[in-house]
This record gives sequence, structure tokens and C-alpha cells, in this order.
Amino acid sequence: MSPPPPPPPDWRLLGFSLLVGSFCFALESAAQGNSATDALNVLLIIVDDLRPSLGCYGDKLVRSPNIDQLASHSILFQNAFAQQAVCAPSRVSFLTGRRPDTTRLYDFNSYWRVHSGNFSTIPQYFKENGYMTMSVGKVFHPGISSNHSDDSPYSWSFPPYHPSSEKYENTKTCRGQDGKLHANLLCPVDVADVPEGTLPDKQSTEEAIRLLEKMKISASPFFLAVGYHKPHIPFRYPKEFQKLYPLENITLAPDPQVPDGLPPVAYNPWMDIREREDVQALNISVPYGPIPVDFQRKIRQSYFASVSYLDTQVGHLLSALDDLHLTSNTIIAFTSDHGWALGEHGEWAKYSNFDITTRVPLMFYVPGKTAPLPGVGEKLFPYQDPFDPTSKSMDPGGHVTDLVELVSLFPTLAGLAGLQVPPRCPIPSFHVELCREGQNLQRHLQLHDLEEDPHFLGNPRESIAYSQYPRPADSPQWNSDKPSLKDIKIMGYSIRTIDYRYTVWVGFNPAEFLANFSDIHAGELYFVDSDPLQDHNIYNDSQHGDLPHSLKP
Ligand SMILES: *[C@@H]1O[C@H](CO)[C@@H](O)[C@H](O)[C@H]1NC(C)=O
Ligand SMILES: *[C@@H]1O[C@H](CO)[C@@H](O)[C@H](O)[C@H]1NC(C)=O
Ligand SMILES: *[C@@H]1O[C@H](CO)[C@@H](O)[C@H](O)[C@H]1NC(C)=O
Ligand SMILES: *[C@@H]1O[C@H](CO)[C@@H](O)[C@H](O)[C@H]1NC(C)=O
Ligand SMILES: *[C@@H]1O[C@H](CO)[C@@H](O)[C@H](O)[C@H]1NC(C)=O
Ligand SMILES: *[C@@H]1O[C@H](CO)[C@@H](O)[C@H](O)[C@H]1NC(C)=O
Repeated sequence: MSPPPPPPPDWRLLGFSLLVGSFCFALESAAQGNSATDALNVLLIIVDDLRPSLGCYGDKLVRSPNIDQLASHSILFQNAFAQQAVCAPSRVSFLTGRRPDTTRLYDFNSYWRVHSGNFSTIPQYFKENGYMTMSVGKVFHPGISSNHSDDSPYSWSFPPYHPSSEKYENTKTCRGQDGKLHANLLCPVDVADVPEGTLPDKQSTEEAIRLLEKMKISASPFFLAVGYHKPHIPFRYPKEFQKLYPLENITLAPDPQVPDGLPPVAYNPWMDIREREDVQALNISVPYGPIPVDFQRKIRQSYFASVSYLDTQVGHLLSALDDLHLTSNTIIAFTSDHGWALGEHGEWAKYSNFDITTRVPLMFYVPGKTAPLPGVGEKLFPYQDPFDPTSKSMDPGGHVTDLVELVSLFPTLAGLAGLQVPPRCPIPSFHVELCREGQNLQRHLQLHDLEEDPHFLGNPRESIAYSQYPRPADSPQWNSDKPSLKDIKIMGYSIRTIDYRYTVWVGFNPAEFLANFSDIHAGELYFVDSDPLQDHNIYNDSQHGDLPHSLKP
């Protein structure tokens, strides 16, 4: 019994065959044929910490009628994965179209333009191609990772908008059982009572609609990115959404225990929720917990309520897009930066390589392609009320089971908008400003006849999604969730195919950015069919013959 071979050091080459010879890329050609009259606009909706707990992804409990309605006119990717399950590294990765090993951002503490390479971003590329590019809410992660400016002025036509009420997210605005205000994890609020009488995502929706109204009469096409904050912690949402999820209807995670065969390096101790006052009061043991069962139900209730609240914001935004007659010439992409564990494997956070934290919703609406163009006076996205018990669930317009990666967003949006798709990156590509490490997913969005085959399956056996996560030590410690670059000692490189997830945790030198694939600290292997939740690590039992050819160097 010997473990499977580790991926080769140039693991990123797997699945990517030919390198493109010439990297001199003529921007002028991209601008051609994209005059203001026929160019498609882009609305990119990025949600924070949203796993695919949505009706359109088969969730029977969560009420998300507006996102489901978007899905009903979109192509939905069932198996989409983030490249690193933490905000700043994931966002910088998909917004530049490069993997974390190229942005060299595994923490929150550097700006890629000065740290790794002067990489172009998706909005920057659209801006350089004549688009008005606009950022509302959390698109880039704030702080040094976007130079304290959301990468302005490079990415945006004018300074990004941030909702003023964002500053109260972590303050004492949650009414506790003692009647006093606390900085809690669970924070259902009466919106009339909170500071400014509003919440960040409501403000972002209002600002986005204001911008859309302006764009209606603008000569240039627009690229509008709207970044919603919920369901990121704290769960601060209008309290009426709790009613959608009576506690007695809330189940626990199907696998709430820390799995026996889990290498300690794979586990992360979810320190951030422990800092909240209501969780602190529970005196939960570090690093493994557990959280008392009734509180587990409450966390899940508040996450789902936050998702339904988010859904109403998406509903208002899309309904406004419709009212402005912009749905016939606007591409809509909807995704999230990564998932979140709600008790699965005994964890309550992102920060891992499991599917539960790396898998994200991803869907694209392309006018006239993924759905027929709206008729005169017809609305594609009328607002759906999640409290209306008669609102029926809607099936996706089409879904793709191929494994895809968020790093593919850049080439896909460029292609869909009719801009030239940036060339594949050479390895290394630190000196190349404009290239792509992901794939153009357009072939999934237009090449087949939806009428004939609404559940197009593609060829999933050919696709692979890569993710990675850094650790400071072999066992969980205070900074295992979010190690700073200098403290990273181990990198978990993970491959997901349609059949399995395979992860190796190897030595990593943060000064040289070098992974040592001869220095294996631990491994994980889970087969999707027999162990979809990834609870039974069979790395030690596996033999070479069990694994498909693609893993071998
Ligand atoms: C980085 O790219 C931006 C946008 O293209 C450009 O304005 C800037 O001069 C570049 N910086 C360097 C150091 O090349
Ligand atoms: C980052 O922001 C600072 C302060 O505004 C500015 O001086 C600097 O040029 C920016 N860095 C880059 C690479 O643009
Ligand atoms: C809660 O569960 C009961 C029993 O299954 C069901 O009748 C009820 O509709 C559920 N309530 C909600 C709000 O989903
Ligand atoms: C796998 O093997 C390693 C090295 O012998 C050991 O430390 C680890 O506990 C084993 N894991 C399981 C799940 O048996
Ligand atoms: C918290 O838990 C520890 C160990 O589980 C125990 O020793 C301590 O008394 C507890 N503190 C409170 C305030 O309950
Ligand atoms: C890689 O790890 C192996 C095994 O621990 C070790 O012998 C070797 O020196 C390491 N290589 C580097 C470059 O650190």
C-alpha cells in the first residue's frame, strides 16, 4: 500500500497543454467591432462567502427565488471552484485571472502590482476597451491587497462606491437577550433601529440602480461590478428573514464531527467567529470545539436568512435592470469568492481545501443566448418575494457539470463581450501584464442548442479544478486560518476532478515562494461517489492504480 504520487512541481501545467508563442497583444484589435451601439454591457455580481446553498443548486430549505429566476435564464455551472478559500487571495486571483501562485497573495498583506507583477484586471481590460467601469460595495478586498483604493485608478472609471453603513458591521449593533447592544455573530436587526437606518447591501443596491439609470443614457457600454457583503459574518440582516427559517426546521450539518482520518494540517480552527461576543460567551474549546447543538442551529438559521436577504437585493437590482430595458444588452455574471462550512467536518469558516469552502455558485446570463431576448414590455426578472409561499422554484436554464474555476472568469467575460480573449500565460508570467491562466468557458454558453438539450453535460472527465491553502504548522494553531506570508510553512495543493478530490500538504518556503513536493506533510483523497462530503480520507490506503492517469507526473 503506497500513497499516490504527488502532483509534479509544475502542477499548474496539468490540464493546460500548449503555451501560446507570442505575447505581444494588440489592444487596438480588441476595440474593433465594439462600438457603443452594439457592445454588450456587463453586470458582475460578487457575493461574499456564499456557498451554493440556493434553490437553483438543489437546496430544498433555502429560499432564493430571485437568484433562482436569474438561473432560469442562465447557464449554471454545478461544479465551479475558487482557487483559494479566503477573500483577498480569491478576489485578486479571479479579478486578475491568475492563480495565487502567480499573484503570490495568500494572505491580505500585499498589492500584486508591486509584489508579483503589474497584472491587468478584468475591469481594467474593459476600461481600456472603451467601457465605463464601476465598482459598488466589496469587489476588491479593501486594504493593501488593492492598494487601499480598490485598484484605482487602473480598474475603475471613477472612484468605487462603499456603503457608509459598512462601518457599523463589526460594532455593537446587535440586540442581545439582555436587551443590550453587542458585537455578536448572530445579528438579526430591526433596520429602522440601526445606525443610519439602513444596511450596507441595501445601500449598494440603491447606488447600483442609480448608476444603471445614468448608464441608460451613456454613450459608452458599461461594466458594473456589485459586491454584496452578506452572508459574510457577522450575520447582520433584517430580522424578518428569520421567519423563513423556523429553528425546528433547521437541520445540523450531515457530518458535524471532525473526521477521524483528517490530517491535523487540513483542519482550521475558525478563530474569527470565536471573537464575537455571543460565541465567546459559549466558552468553546480551541481548536476543535464543538459548538452546542442549539447554537449550531442558530448559526445555520442566520446564514440562510442572510442568503434570503441577499436574494432580495439581487432581485431589486435585476428588476431595475429590466425596467431600464437593459436586460436585452447586458451580460449578467453571478458568483461568490468562496464557500463557507456550516458545521461540516466540525468547522465554521472558509480557510480550507474542502469542497464546502472552495465550491461556489457561478452562472452567466447572456442575452439571446442563454435565454430568448425579452419581448416588448416583457420582464425577465420581475421581483420575487421570498415570503410569498406560492412563489415556485425555478429550474436553471441549463447547467454544466464540467469542473470549472473562478480564474476562468476573465477570459470568459472578455469573450462574451466580444473583446479579444487574452492569450494563455507563459510560465512564469510575472513579466506579462495581460494574459490568462483560466479557460474561456464560452463554449459552454453558446455552442449547443439549449432548446434541444437543456441539460448539456459537456465532457466532465477532461476538466480539473485547482485550489490551494497555506498553513503555518502541521497542527491547528491560532493563525492556521489566515497565516501571514512570512509564517507559511506548508501549502496544501488540491485537485478536484469529477471523480475525486486529492490534496497534498507540502513544505513551502515563503521567502522564495517555493513548494517542495518531496517534502510531503500529509495527504487527502476522497472519491466523490462514495464519499461526497469528504469525511473518509483514503490517502493512506490508495494505490497508484486507483487514480486516473492525469495525476501522474
Ligand atoms: C502598470 O500598469 C498600469 C496600467 O496599464 C500602467 O499605467 C503602469 O504604468 C504600469 N506600471 C508599471 C510599473 O509598469
Ligand atoms: C498605491 O497608492 C499610493 C498612494 O495613493 C500611490 O502613491 C502608489 O503609486 C500606488 N501604487 C501603484 C502601484 O499604483
Ligand atoms: C417547517 O417544517 C414543516 C414540517 O415539515 C413544514 O410544514 C413547514 O412548511 C416548514 N416551515 C418553513 C417556513 O419552511
Ligand atoms: C497515514 O499515514 C501517516 C504516516 O504513516 C500517519 O501519520 C497518518 O496518521 C495516517 N493517516 C491515517 C488516516 O491513517
Ligand atoms: C471554560 O471552559 C474551560 C475548559 O473547558 C473551563 O475550565 C472553564 O471553567 C470554563 N469557563 C467558563 C467561564 O465557563
Ligand atoms: C525538499 O524536501 C526534501 C525532503 O524533506 C529535502 O531533502 C530537500 O532538501 C528539500 N529541498 C529543498 C530545496 O528544500
